[in-house]
Formats: sequence, structure tokens, C-alpha cells
Amino acid sequence: MCGIVGYIGPRDATPIILNGLKRLEYRGYDSAGLAVLQNGKIEVRRDAGKLSRLEELLRESPIVGAPGIGHTRWATHGAPSVQNAHPHLGQSGDVVVVHNGIVENFLELRDELRAEGTIFRSETDTETIVHLVEHHQSAGLSLIEAARRTFQQIKGANVIVLMSAREPEKIIAARLGNAGGIVVGFGDGEMFAASDIPAILEHTRKVLFLESRQVATITCQGVTIETLEGKPVQPQVSNVPWDPVAAEKGAYRHFMQKEIHEQARSLTDTLAGRVEFDTARIRLPELNLDAALARRINKIYITACGTAAYAGMVGKLLIEKIARIPTEMDIGSEFRYRDPIIDENTVVLAISQSGETADTLAAMEEGRRKGAVIWSIVNAIGSQAMRIADGYISMQTGPEIGVASTKAFTAPLVDQYMLAILLADLRGTLDDKTRHALVADLRLIPNLAGRTLSREADVELVAHSLKDIRDCLYLGRGINMPIAYEGALKLKEISYVHAEAYPAGEMKHGPIALIDENMPVVALAPKDPWYEKMVSQIQQAKARGGKVIAVATDGDELTASMADHVLWIPETPWMLSPVITVLPLQLLAYHIAAIRGLDVDQPRNLAKSVTVE
Ligand code: M6R
Repeated sequence: MCGIVGYIGPRDATPIILNGLKRLEYRGYDSAGLAVLQNGKIEVRRDAGKLSRLEELLRESPIVGAPGIGHTRWATHGAPSVQNAHPHLGQSGDVVVVHNGIVENFLELRDELRAEGTIFRSETDTETIVHLVEHHQSAGLSLIEAARRTFQQIKGANVIVLMSAREPEKIIAARLGNAGGIVVGFGDGEMFAASDIPAILEHTRKVLFLESRQVATITCQGVTIETLEGKPVQPQVSNVPWDPVAAEKGAYRHFMQKEIHEQARSLTDTLAGRVEFDTARIRLPELNLDAALARRINKIYITACGTAAYAGMVGKLLIEKIARIPTEMDIGSEFRYRDPIIDENTVVLAISQSGETADTLAAMEEGRRKGAVIWSIVNAIGSQAMRIADGYISMQTGPEIGVASTKAFTAPLVDQYMLAILLADLRGTLDDKTRHALVADLRLIPNLAGRTLSREADVELVAHSLKDIRDCLYLGRGINMPIAYEGALKLKEISYVHAEAYPAGEMKHGPIALIDENMPVVALAPKDPWYEKMVSQIQQAKARGGKVIAVATDGDELTASMADHVLWIPETPWMLSPVITVLPLQLLAYHIAAIRGLDVDQPRNLAKSVTVE
């Protein structure tokens, strides 16, 4: 949600900000704007709609200069409109601000400012910030003092970037709570600020992430960090291992298609440095897990939202099966409201691609409050879910730009499989033979993924036959039941087709009434321990005239004889089968959406990072 880019340096800020905002489009937005200092005056261009509209405005009326700040807005307070789009200028035109988050006490602050004669020109909460800064400046405070005073007055989780024509040699950036991150990038005589790394990756890989309640003063020469109270903080600079090309679409039509195909490589990266095949041992050093901790854990709550939650459903089964530790999967948005039973021997394991999802972070905080050990599996380096955890597993998949999560679904499946083996090994409950067999299976996964993805053309043909469907039912059992949920979510979020998923055994308790020739049924029937059960479900669906699309293992003539279409996968060890069975379903959803001509990477109403509750 909302994207921010800032630049200060000798170059023209406008194209740098525009390109940065384009790299943040995946976050979801409905208006865009930028402000640049041109000949000592702040110029603003902004409007509702996509970045192409902003580019049009800039062609009609260019701005050249620096520093500059830009924003893509996902509306919360006030509709997407030119007045509500960021950046917001103060009354004098000397201060300008962009903002992610919600100023919870904005009504109260607005009333106070109005009483003093301030005229508000938008419906946003953001506008209070700029007026407060101006108010403090006019009382004689410097920009940083005025900004800090303002940040102390506002309530809620907020990320703010601002600049002033009166002090043009700096940009101020602040992070107050969990409204998404802010990364500061170091260039040569120039500096950057952004909501996420891809926005600045083409310029620098040297970055630092602001912690909550930190304020950065960014100049061409570097950055000074202070707490909200003005206490100096030593900057912690790190190097991002991501390749700038990772954030490019390349020859693919959409980021989603590229990211689906990246999975053979991203799964190799997921294993890299973690698996010792000779000794059959797993190393997850950032998790800070030792034998004493492993032995005292008596319960694991996996918590996550959306696709990450479905990955967690698979993880529950793997951890219980391999490590024999009672494990539950809890939806992030529910966890903190149901008073979960937690003690110091409980682990709360959060899974999040962005590491910024507000509900998942709140679930982690609930675990922290009740004394649990907090772990996370996260893709976005330096994100909040990574930093507030006692230990983490980095997904190592590179940036995921498409709103529909794909490679950040398969990586945590493998991460949880590795975690389950490590836990069992440290607890001394895994015999050598089983451990060696489980670890050896990991080696097969990248190749199996590559082989499955090479069958894209077959999936595309099936997608053509389904392009006009209005509804679809996904069925799975056991370890592949969460894959039915994930397949249905992929289809609904990018194709806008109504798709429902059920544990196949539930069919006879109601949903079977839906089946007729207009209700295609996607049935997950790989050769896993639930195979026979799925065969009988397929028979039942066929008996009611349903059109069946089966995900089946190469050579499975029985399933092929019953199904209308088969999405073939190579034979895969069953505990890792979800990593492979999901691939044709990702491709199916992708191609149905692409054939329908939809905006695959930025589906309507969705944001990549959901930073509000
Ligand atoms: O960044 P997170 O993994 O925490 O995001 C969680 C969900 O918002 C996310 O998985 C969402 O369901 C995706 N759009 C699914 O494709």
C-alpha cells in the first residue's frame, strides 16, 4: 500500500522518482504525485489514476530540479482525487509531505489548526502533518525540530517523508510504528529514500532501514539518524544481495509469469547454504534455534494472511508429521482477538512475503506480549517481521513484484520442511535413516519444479477452454488441501472468477449440490497418501456432470481416464508435493487472467503490502 520515493543529489529528481514509483506500482495505488524543488520553489504534479497520468502531467508541464519526493497513494481518508493525492503542500508552499499510514488523531489536530486559521484543501489526514510542520517552523524551529515536534504530536503508525524550500539541502524521513518500512539508499554524492528496495535498486545496493520511532535527516553526503526524542542513533548500513535485474520484467509479459518461472531458481536459492546433503543436516542460523530451545517447545502457532496462511497450513502438517510438535495455523487478523493460550514454551511463527502485513505483525506482537518465542519466515530483507522476531528464515527468493504471490509461496513450504527436520533432529526424535531420506528429497525439488514449469503450454491450452467460466471449485485432501485454497485464491484475485476451495471429504456435506456442467472442478490428485480418496471424489464429481481438471502424477492412467483435462506433474515425494502441485495452478490462474486481458500484476482493489488492519 502507498509507495514513497525521495531523491537528493545533483541529478534531476523527476525521472529518478518516476522510475522508482514505477518499481513500487506492485504495492497497489489509485493516485500518484511528486514534488520537486525547481529554482527555489516547490512544484507539485499529482492526480488520481495511474502513473501514466502523472507522466502526462509532467510532459505538459515539466519540472527539473532536486531534491524531490514522490508518492503512490492507496486511498484511506478521502477518495482518489487530485486534491487528496500526495504530495501535500503547506499554506506557504514552502513545505511538502508524503505519507503512508493513518494519523489517528487527525480530526482533533485539524480542528486545532482550523481554529488558528489554517485552510485545509483535502480530505486527507496527511494534510495535518504539513500544516503542523509549517506551524512549528513559523514559531522559529528548524525543519528537523519542527518535523520532530510534529511527529511527537501525531498518533498511529506512520511513515513520513518531507522537504522544505527553506532548507533545500535535506530531506526528512521518519518511521513511526508499523505502517510499512522506509529504506535509505547511499549513492555517490546523492541519496535516496523509498518504501521498498526495488525503487532504488538500480542506483544503489547500500542501504539502511529505519526502525520505528527513528527520524533521518538525509543530505547529498549521507544521513543522520535520531530517535523521535532527538537521541543520536548509529546508522546500521547493509548491502542488499538482490540483483537489479530481479526487479525487471525482462522478456515476460507480466511479473507474475516471470516469478512463476523463477521458482526453479528460487527454490535452489532457498536450499543454498541451508542443507548439508552429505551429513543430512539442516542449518538455519538466523533462527537462533538450539537443542535446549527445540526440546522445550510444546506448541507452535503459525500465523499469516492470504497465500502465506495457506503455506502455513502445509507447514502445520509438516511440523506435526516430522517433528511431532503440536502446531496450529492461525489467520493473522484473528489471532490477537481470540486470546490464544501462549507461554514461554510456545513459538509464534509468522510467515510474510512483505514482512509488513499489519495483521501478521499484530499477531507477532500478541505472541511477544504473552511471552512466546517469535520466529518469522520473510522475503523482504530488513522488514519489520524480520527485525522484531527472535529468529528468522529469509526466503531468499528475490523481490516479488506481482501482487499475486507465487515464488514467496513455494519458498516457505520448503523452509518449513527444513525447519521441521531441524526441530526433530535437535529434539533427537528423528532416526538417521529417515533424516537422510527427508533431506535427500530436497535435492530433487528445483529440478521437479523446472520440469513442471516447462509444461506451461499444456496449461495454457486448458486455460483457453476455461476462459469464460464464472465459478470454479477446487478440491484437495491432506497435504494438498491447502493447495486447493491457494489455487482458488490465485484464480479469484487475478481473474475475478468466483472460486471456492474445500477439503474434498467435505463435498458430501453440502458443496456437492453445486456441481453441474457449469461448475468446473479442479481436483488435486497427486500420488500422495490421500490419492485413493481423491480418485473417489473425482468419480463423484463426474457422476454429477462436473467438468474435472485434475492435477495428477505422470503415468496416472486412472485419473486421466476420468478427468476432462489433466495438468501433469512429475512424481514427487509426497511431503514436498505441494511445492510442485501448486505450479500448474499458478499457471492456470495466470493464463485465464491473461487471456481475459486483465491487469495481472495489479489486480483491482488489491495491494501487495497490506499495512492497515
Ligand atoms: O506480504 P504477506 O505475505 O504478509 O501478504 C499476505 C497476503 O496479503 C498475501 O499473501 C495475499 O493474499 C496475496 N495477494 C496472495 O497472492
